[in-house]
Formats: sequence, structure tokens, C-alpha cells
Amino acid sequence: MKILLFGRIGQVGWELNRSLQPLGEIVVLDQEDADFSDPESLRDVVREIKPDVIVNAVAYTAVDKAEQEEELVEKINGVASGVLAEEASNINALLVHYSTDYVFDGTQGPYAETDSPNPLNAYGRTKLAGEQAIQSSACDYLIMRTSWVYASRAHNFLLTILKLAKEREELSIVADQIGSPTSARLIAETTILCIQQAMIERDNGVFSSGLYHLTSSGSTSWHGFAEQIVEMANQKLDLELKIKQIKAIPTTDYPTPAQRPMNSQLVVTKLEKKFGLVMPHWKDMLALCVEEIK
Ligand SMILES: NC(=O)c1ccc[n+]([C@@H]2O[C@H](COP(=O)([O-])OP(=O)(O)OC[C@H]3O[C@@H](n4cnc5c(N)ncnc54)[C@H](OP(=O)(O)O)[C@@H]3O)[C@@H](O)[C@H]2O)c1
Repeated sequence: MKILLFGRIGQVGWELNRSLQPLGEIVVLDQEDADFSDPESLRDVVREIKPDVIVNAVAYTAVDKAEQEEELVEKINGVASGVLAEEASNINALLVHYSTDYVFDGTQGPYAETDSPNPLNAYGRTKLAGEQAIQSSACDYLIMRTSWVYASRAHNFLLTILKLAKEREELSIVADQIGSPTSARLIAETTILCIQQAMIERDNGVFSSGLYHLTSSGSTSWHGFAEQIVEMANQKLDLELKIKQIKAIPTTDYPTPAQRPMNSQLVVTKLEKKFGLVMPHWKDMLALCVEEIK
């Protein structure tokens, strides 16, 4: 099996590059090889490599900055996803794509795949456009909506909190936005199992494309996530943490350019049933990730 992975140095892409290896020949590209802000240029890339599976871990993920340049973000998150879907269809490849809890407005979470999206910000709108472009194409696809992604490397909430906890005695963190922190490693390892099953089903002519929610189980607020990070760092890491108090604040005390959903927890039952999985609790996955940092 030949797999084309886009997004080599992103949180999820980096983990995928490791996890995908046993599945076959992996061709891994980054922005220098394939620029998603020029969606049409992706056609030649796919045509030349002719993969059996395309995994798209590329996205413009700077949620606040996206408000200022929605046209560019739409190309990367929306149009490019549609181009990949068309090219996947032309060569009969499976397209695996990631989307976000931010397609929902957060007023009625937890959300199932059947609930109607209503994004509050440019990032969410463009990610929804990407989903829709893929769904309206003729390709075989798996779209995985995930949330609150962190990893032991790159830029994310976990590493930011650890850095700030070394520098400051007090932090103020939003306590009224609810979601499920999900490690890039869990996303990558789950993706492998889904691809394996999907390829067997395609060989047997019984595959159906689908949209799935892929997150850890359980939920918390950003404040709860931060407290757990510090507790685990104190237990497992040999760091000199200055932090004494993490204050819980409302969203109204931390205004950001992009509005965020208040409760964007995703229901993962469809994924669990379809692929025979049990999604681990976010605290257990966080513990594994903190040990990795050690
Ligand atoms: N991060 C989250 O909290 C979160 C939450 C929900 C869903 N998701 C979804 O999960 C997936 C993976 O996210 P992630 O956290 O791994 O993202 P990430 O760490 O921000 O990585 C994004 C990747 O996209 C690449 N990229 C950005 N602009 C590009 C362009 N114009 N051309 C080619 N590559 C480009 C980046 O490359 P460079 O580093 O070279 O720019 C990087 O490899 C995405 O679909 C995202 O929407 C993420």
C-alpha cells in the first residue's frame, strides 16, 4: 500500500509519520513540497505519486489569526481539501481528512455527527467548507473531527502551560469553555486502525465513506485541563514549577479575536462502534504524553 501524507511537521502529521510506517510505503510531504495555499498545484503532486491512500494532516490552525485572512485560510482548509478529494476520486484512492469541533457553535454540546454545524469563526467556517467539498466529491473518504489537540512537541496548550508554570506563580485560565483534550498520538494511532479496516472493506467492495468524531472520552474546561497538566507535571516531571494558583475566569474576561464554542464536546460512539474501539479518557492520554516529555 502506498500512502501520501501531507503535513509532516504538524502535531498530527508528525505522529502519523511514525504510526503509518508499518502499513506500507509512506511518502511524506511538507509545505515546501506541496503548498496548500495554491490548491491547484496539489493535482500534479497526487498524480505523480499515485497513492492508494491520501492522509491530509495539513490545516491553517491559528484560530485567532484566521479572522484577519479568511480568504487564505479558505484556500488551505477548504479549497485544497476539495482538490485532494477530486484527485483521490480520479485515482480511486482513499482520502483521510481531519476536521474540528469548531464547526459547532457550542450551544448544544455534546455533539453527534448528525448534529448541524454552525461555526462561530473563520477557522470553523473554512474547516466546514473542507468537509463539504470532500463529502460532495465522488471519492472514498474518512473525515475525522477532533478537538483540543496537543502533543509532546510543536506548539500547543500543554507545552504553553508547562512553560508558563515555570515562569509565573499565578495563571488565569478560561473555565467556561468545555471540550475534550485529545493527543495527536491518539489521533494517529486511531487513524491507522481505521485505515486498515477501510482498506479491507474497499478490497471486499463493502466500504462506505463516513464522517466520525475522534476524541478522547470525558471532557473538561481549559482551566481543568491546565490544572491537570500542572498536577501531572508535579507528579511525573522533574521541573522547577513556580505556579501556586490557577484562577478560573469566564470567557468574557479573556476576549479573543475569534469567538469560540462554549461546549464543543464530541460524541465518539459512532467511531467506537464502527471500528471496534474504546476511546481512552483524556486524563490517561495526558499522563502518557507527559511521560513522553520526561
Ligand atoms: N490543533 C488543534 O487543537 C485542532 C483541533 C481540532 C481539529 N484540528 C485539526 O486536526 C488536524 C491536524 O491539526 P494539527 O494540530 O496537527 O495542526 P498543526 O500542528 O497546526 O499542523 C498543521 C500542518 O499544516 C501545515 N500547513 C499549514 N499551512 C500550510 C500550507 N499552506 N501548505 C502546506 N502545509 C501547510 C503546517 O506546516 P508548517 O508548519 O510548515 O506551516 C503543519 O504541518 C487539522 O485538520 C486541524 O484542523 C486541530
